[in-house]
Amino acid sequence: MNIILLGPPGAGKGTQATRLVETRGMVQLSTGDMLRAAVKAGTPTGLQAKAVMDAGQLVSDEIVSGIIGDALDALPQETGVIFDGYPRTHAQAVSLDAILSQRGRKLDHVIELAVNEDALVERIVGRFTCATCGAGYHDTFKRPKVEGTCDICGGHEFKRRPDDNEETVRTRMAEYRAKTAPILPYYEAKGLVDRVDGMADIAHVGEAIDGILDRVTA
Ligand code: AP5
Ligand code: MG
Repeated sequence: MNIILLGPPGAGKGTQATRLVETRGMVQLSTGDMLRAAVKAGTPTGLQAKAVMDAGQLVSDEIVSGIIGDALDALPQETGVIFDGYPRTHAQAVSLDAILSQRGRKLDHVIELAVNEDALVERIVGRFTCATCGAGYHDTFKRPKVEGTCDICGGHEFKRRPDDNEETVRTRMAEYRAKTAPILPYYEAKGLVDRVDGMADIAHVGEAIDGILDRVTA
């Protein structure tokens, strides 16, 4: 099964994708995570992407579609994939169709996480991750069980993303509204979209997604 999690910055795409990786053995392909890894490694792609990401704008369609194709090539054919943060433009949506069909895959479903924009700034500005294993947390909504210690690996160092400040978040939201939300009709016309209330708590959003995926696979 290949699915897209679609939603604005802070909607919970990464949080829910991580859950699906654990519960369904799917693989999460997050273009944001892959670009951040490229920036950290100082690859030519990373060097090109860094300033664009720090400003909250979109990296070029060619770069991200190239990354997605390469990532799929590294996976066994039968592995289910969750696309997190891709596609983000109409051109990327069209590319994804070609990328999938060239690899004998197809898109099974699109889940839209519908959220109230006002809540997103709070979610994003409060987000942090374990510097060792990458587990995600939030100052208010998802604190480590033991203060200062990662629940997953026991690490004590945490980090925040450079683009997680209020000003950049506003630009990221504007990019979503202008370029990403308009791809929904492309998938609606194919009958592939279900919408989930992303304002519910993390567990309830997960249950709603499970209900949809169980129905799609039945
Ligand atoms: P990317 O990394 O994809 O960032 P984003 O889309 O802005 O989304 P986020 O990762 O911020 O949010 P999320 O939905 O994953 O939320 P999360 O689960 O963490 O992209 C970053 C940049 O890379 C882009 O700006 C662009 O420059 C570039 N890029 C990436 N892909 C690209 C593409 N395809 N094309 C061009 N450029 C691209 O949750 C957020 C916080 O809220 C967490 O702390 C979490 O604990 C908490 N939370 C989650 N769910 C809930 C809930 N239900 N209730 C309360 N709190 C919650
Ligand atoms: Mg994310």
